[in-house]
Amino acid sequence: MYRTNTCGELRIASVGQNVTLAGWVQRIRKMGGMTFVDLRDRYGITQIVFNEETDADLCGRANKLGREFVIQVQGTVAERSSKNSNIPTGDVELIAKDLVVLHTSDVPPFTIKDNSDGGDDIRMQYRYLDLRRNTVRENLELRHKIALEVRNFLNEHQFLEVETPVLIKSTPEGARDFVVPSRMNPGEFYALPQSPQLFKQLLMVAGFDRYFQIAKCFRDEDLRADRQPEFTQIDCEMSFVEQEDVIEMFEGMIKHIFKMVKGVEFYDPFPRMTWHECMRLYGSDKPDMRFGMTFVELKDLTEGRNFSIFDSVNFVVGICVSGCASYTRKQLDGLTDFVKRSQIGAKGLVYVKYEQDGSFKSSVDKFYSQDDLKLWAERFGAKPGDLMLILCGDDANKTRKQMCELRLEMGERLGLRDRNIFAPLWVVDFPLFEWSEEDQRFYAMHHPFTSPKLEDVQYLDSDPGRVRANAYDLAMNGVELGGGSIRIHDSELQNKMFELLGFTPEQTEDQFGFLMDAFRYGAPPHGGLAFGLDRVTSMLAGLDSIRDCIAFPKNNSGRDVMNDSPSKIADAQLDELCLKIDLDKINNK
Ligand code: AMO
Repeated sequence: MYRTNTCGELRIASVGQNVTLAGWVQRIRKMGGMTFVDLRDRYGITQIVFNEETDADLCGRANKLGREFVIQVQGTVAERSSKNSNIPTGDVELIAKDLVVLHTSDVPPFTIKDNSDGGDDIRMQYRYLDLRRNTVRENLELRHKIALEVRNFLNEHQFLEVETPVLIKSTPEGARDFVVPSRMNPGEFYALPQSPQLFKQLLMVAGFDRYFQIAKCFRDEDLRADRQPEFTQIDCEMSFVEQEDVIEMFEGMIKHIFKMVKGVEFYDPFPRMTWHECMRLYGSDKPDMRFGMTFVELKDLTEGRNFSIFDSVNFVVGICVSGCASYTRKQLDGLTDFVKRSQIGAKGLVYVKYEQDGSFKSSVDKFYSQDDLKLWAERFGAKPGDLMLILCGDDANKTRKQMCELRLEMGERLGLRDRNIFAPLWVVDFPLFEWSEEDQRFYAMHHPFTSPKLEDVQYLDSDPGRVRANAYDLAMNGVELGGGSIRIHDSELQNKMFELLGFTPEQTEDQFGFLMDAFRYGAPPHGGLAFGLDRVTSMLAGLDSIRDCIAFPKNNSGRDVMNDSPSKIADAQLDELCLKIDLDKINNK
């Protein structure tokens, strides 16, 4: 037997027991004739004592141990004279009687402790060592607990976990597919699923009226802190449901997870807001509801005072930041620099300080009188001591997005984005379509299988942009945790959608023929949603990036720096797949 106990298990009640532990050497200290070894495994750390006086040979061997050696120690549990209240095993130590080195270790490239001295790159390169750190391990433990609670909850509610294929058909909608060449079908490719969307709908046709899957999904898109090329969805679908049923079920699931995993209880129903309201008030379809600073539109109040910057644009919008009228020139310049950053792209920032004496001081004092600014302040609902920050632009949506960034930045600066507060919001009534200026065509905002609201079907031909969808997202603290919709289950309407999205009947048949066929054989009304497991975990763990709750994540260039992938493949492999690499094209990229 390699071990009788784990390194996190021994307590004062174990004193006197003969035990064997196995684990990694965290630290070695020599003090007089004693050598202390902190032995670590997944469960904790136990102090081992080697005494030169009682066994010089054993102690000599202990002195030769190095960090991260894997050892087995047999000995007797004793009460410590100087206890360590920082660790659960801190009342006891193991007086070693035997030591076996199971494996030596090179000196690790960084120290394995909570505040590691390794940089991000080195930790990713040696991810298996990084995973030995408590913080990273705890994130994976949390992820496991969440997945377990998801399964418990959904199982209780008659959901069946069904696996769907990973080698599927490529479809051009949504993000880019990762594709896999088929050796047996030369010149043809599978795609890796961006989500199990079509399969779960087929499972509904098949009569599995409550499905879920903790499913790997793959998207070849630009990466961010909350986006990985491969990620995991808690993917769900239900038959014979309306939007309300789906929202109710999965609000229940999220509440269950938060309660079981984090002890956080939400007593009230999650608030809801329409997509249009979200955009108007927060400039985002996933607003951070932990704080206010909702948008105030000012264009009408700014006109006719010869301030050409405001006069020449369609849209003027601002936020009121409580208690910040005392911001210095330097702080305001800092905010101006922030909004001018290329990722945000505003041209400038106008501020109005509502001074404690009731007067106003602004960057546009030359154009606007105290009375003008008072009217602005009234619209903001500002009080003396507040700071109003204003942006403008021709494109209202773009300006709102810029203001959204500024709002989040102010929330951050003022400490209003507390990770222990969770502010959920159902965003409902998404538009069915999104117009692309670049491509001069409509795209499905969610996906082409989302149903329009019954009362808006009449505008499908005349005014597609006006049609609202039976689609909903769950946002929390500025993150989209999940989203879904009630699907179209009528092949005629589904065909109409494809037509509006610019598919020819041949393209529809080629890409979605199997779904359209299925819909001819009794498709039940159905709908569902999918949560990002990585995002739910990083929300509960209070992480900045979902990378920290993924065992082996990719970096921002989509690379796994540990195994150096993606990588080239052998010519023979290419040849077998009938593929040729266009080196000129690569070199010109
Ligand atoms: P959607 O595309 O909104 O919907 O994805 C659902 C959820 O998956 C997570 N997610 C991601 N997480 C990490 N990295 C990514 N690259 C990434 N992309 C998405 C998000 C998101 O809310 N089939 C539909 C769902 C449905 O309609 O039922 C779908 O995939 O948390």
